[in-house]
Amino acid sequence: MQYTWNDIEQHIAACTCCPLSRTRNRPVMGRGSRQADIMLIAEAPGGQEDQQGIPFVGRSGEILDSLLRDCGLTREEIYITNIVKCHPPGNRDPQNEEKEACFPYLKYETYLLKPKIIVCLGRVAAQRIISADFRITRQHGTWIYRKNCALTATYHPSAILRDSSKYEMVREVFCEIAKKRMELTI
Ligand code: URA
Repeated sequence: MQYTWNDIEQHIAACTCCPLSRTRNRPVMGRGSRQADIMLIAEAPGGQEDQQGIPFVGRSGEILDSLLRDCGLTREEIYITNIVKCHPPGNRDPQNEEKEACFPYLKYETYLLKPKIIVCLGRVAAQRIISADFRITRQHGTWIYRKNCALTATYHPSAILRDSSKYEMVREVFCEIAKKRMELTI
């Protein structure tokens, strides 16, 4: 059976597949253009995202918007989602059981979107999507190619909130991503 975006949205809204469903306020489905070439994958919704049911509406979202703006991109032309769709209490890392329970949703989002570029934001996403031993400090901004998709990873915007000197480094990766999109879409 072929799922639609609507089907996935409904499944996520009613999901009780892992313990996070008991503590969440609202599950957070990916957002943005469903025709996007670029898919950003982060870790898990934070507290504000949990209240509003929308990814990156908190302080990390402000940083993300600024990075996108600096490279001539907007949220409306990309798709942003998370490895897990529900907020882990206390902003802890999502546990394996939670990541695996949620993974089919990410697979369907990716299948329907068919992005040309996937960008993992932070260690948790990079280690689940690119490779289990991915080291953000050493490998951020490097590219791998899988099927018809280019994949990279960089620091999560919350890392910039903790250490503003990382902004420039992440901005450079975002500008490379915008350049890569031009290369892959002409
Ligand atoms: N941090 C994330 O990893 N995802 C969000 O949606 C918001 C903050």
